[in-house]
Amino acid sequence: MTNTAGLVVVTGGGGFIGGALVASLRKQGCQNIRAVDVKPFDHWYQRFDDVENLCMDLNEKSTCDVAARGAHDIYNLAANMGGMGFIEKNKALCMLSVLINTHMLQSALKQGASRFFYASSACVYNGDKQKTFEAPSLKEEDAYPALCEDGYGWEKLFSERMSRHFREDFGLYTRVARFHNVYGPWGTWFGGREKAPAAICRKVVEAKAKNKHEIDIWGTGNQTRSFMYIDDCLEGVQKIMNSEILEPINLGSSEAVSINQLVDMVEGIAGIRLERKYDLTQPQGVNGRNSDNTLIQKYLHWEPSISLQAGLEKTYSWIHDQYVAREKGAAGVVREFVTS
Ligand code: NAD
Ligand code: GDD
Repeated sequence: MTNTAGLVVVTGGGGFIGGALVASLRKQGCQNIRAVDVKPFDHWYQRFDDVENLCMDLNEKSTCDVAARGAHDIYNLAANMGGMGFIEKNKALCMLSVLINTHMLQSALKQGASRFFYASSACVYNGDKQKTFEAPSLKEEDAYPALCEDGYGWEKLFSERMSRHFREDFGLYTRVARFHNVYGPWGTWFGGREKAPAAICRKVVEAKAKNKHEIDIWGTGNQTRSFMYIDDCLEGVQKIMNSEILEPINLGSSEAVSINQLVDMVEGIAGIRLERKYDLTQPQGVNGRNSDNTLIQKYLHWEPSISLQAGLEKTYSWIHDQYVAREKGAAGVVREFVTS
């Protein structure tokens, strides 16, 4: 059920998931959308003229009040985030997203929003339960006793709990999903914040374009993850927002692969084989993680189901086109936005 009448606010609307959510809401017939992001407009990944677009810093309480004014639904997707290369080296910046989450919850309450969605992460899970490379399936209860990803994960766990207490103490309708590594077109694919699927696609595209048959991989390549295609993420977000699920719940694919298998798949799509150079000095995060989808199946009789192969084919093709466009660009910079 999409809210087609009341105002829907998407924070982080200039980013990957926020931009895709705005695009999806428009397609579903929602005509009253406000997208908010701190990035200048020409850096938004997707931008639409028929949406109220605001360029504002949501670290500030006063701007959160403006962002939340008149909102029926708020999808709070704004955060300072990225893949392992970013979150391991920017712990303070990641923790500062607590300002966005605190102020957005306060403003949602003050402005009388009906519903609030918070995007948490698999990085809240206890590190001791992710030591094996055998892709341990993480159940929601595995977040405790807490031993989160340092910085980013602790902030997510804190903000999960704050969302819960705003619901319990103040009656604000809050819903929380723990995203497992999301990928797809319009996701960050270069610059340092990109996650493994986009990074590997870019590296393979580049190796092919430059006829340099090598690829560098962070770690041994034995690390395991599950990757969720953006369309599954969007469907799950709306299902969870519209559900009676009160506790934070996994939103992720349960198709785990090693990073080496991920590289195999991308090479297969590109029709190339590359010599692998393993760089053990780069950030690697946990050894293995997968999403246990028992709870989401129980509540929604649904779970992300788009295969990694199908999702990667679309993502590779999009990154390939972005790469070619960037190489052609005079200044070597591509602005990743579209207008309606
Ligand atoms: P993204 O970086 O593409 O989008 C986040 C957006 O938030 C960016 O456009 C950024 O400019 C904006 N932002 C940052 N600080 C802001 C501020 N002070 N004021 C206003 N806007 C600000 O990331 P994404 O992949 O779209 O992630 C969306 C949400 O999902 C985030 O909360 C993220 O932590 C969470 N999440 C994402 C993944 C994933 O794999 N993509 C996994 C787990 C959780
Ligand atoms: N980013 C990246 N780039 N990772 C690589 C690369 C590369 O070129 N080569 C290998 N890897 C390895 C990393 O070392 C890591 O072990 C694994 O691929 C996955 O890395 P990421 O995709 O960057 O992050 P993650 O899965 O550890 O964590 C991400 O997902 C969480 C949710 O599941 C991050 O984006 C978190 O912010 C997010 O919350």
